[in-house]
Amino acid sequence: MEVIVTDTPQLAGNLVATILQRWVRPGGTLGLATGSSPEQTYAELVRRHREEGLSFEGVRAFLLDEYVGLGADHPQSYRQVIQQMLTDQVGLDITGPDGMARDLLAEAAAYEERIREAGGIDVQLLGIGGDGHLGFNEPGSSLNSRTRVKTLTTRTRRDNARFFADDQVPHHVLTQGLATIREARHLVLIATGEGKAAAVAAAVEGPLSAFCPASVLQLHPHVSVVLDRLSAAQL
Ligand code: GLP
Repeated sequence: MEVIVTDTPQLAGNLVATILQRWVRPGGTLGLATGSSPEQTYAELVRRHREEGLSFEGVRAFLLDEYVGLGADHPQSYRQVIQQMLTDQVGLDITGPDGMARDLLAEAAAYEERIREAGGIDVQLLGIGGDGHLGFNEPGSSLNSRTRVKTLTTRTRRDNARFFADDQVPHHVLTQGLATIREARHLVLIATGEGKAAAVAAAVEGPLSAFCPASVLQLHPHVSVVLDRLSAAQL
């Protein structure tokens, strides 16, 4: 695992854009996360697309997770969020788990199959929850989990309420499992701000434990953890 500490959140985001850019080429497959952590990275990729001609032609992208019960056109569905933030702006195809599927178990299995058919994910971008969650794999998630339905903790629903005008954060989600995430060829975790410092320290230097799902990064042979000074403060 390489841990890179940058001076500012902006530098962290731009560095992650540079790491991802290696796979922005025909046949490349990106795994994308939502949340506020990757915002600078996506803004920088859009800028490079517009100003430097970075082309996303022939690149495929897969989402990490999705809320159950929010359609693709709901403003807070992760599909809609990623389309607004990045993919619509650069002409990138995005596939995500369908949170409106009638049979969620079948959808979870089908999503794994779609990733497999694409040849797997080259680089998976990740944020980290304040409680150490990855995707929506909350504390206690099996380190060997696959894509499945999860129930959000009160803390995660509270943390994510800021994105919902009416505070109505769904209770259930579909998320890639920790084993699914681990199959990506390169994992890149970005974290900024002091609110993430404890989770980052537990993930990078703590014991491997289902109670800090992000500690599963320690099992992967090719991981970049990109931090600003504040999120690195407890290392
Ligand atoms: C959310 C998402 C994760 C994200 C994390 C951190 O619940 N499902 O993919 O990494 O929480 O969010 P943020 O980047 O907004 O702090």
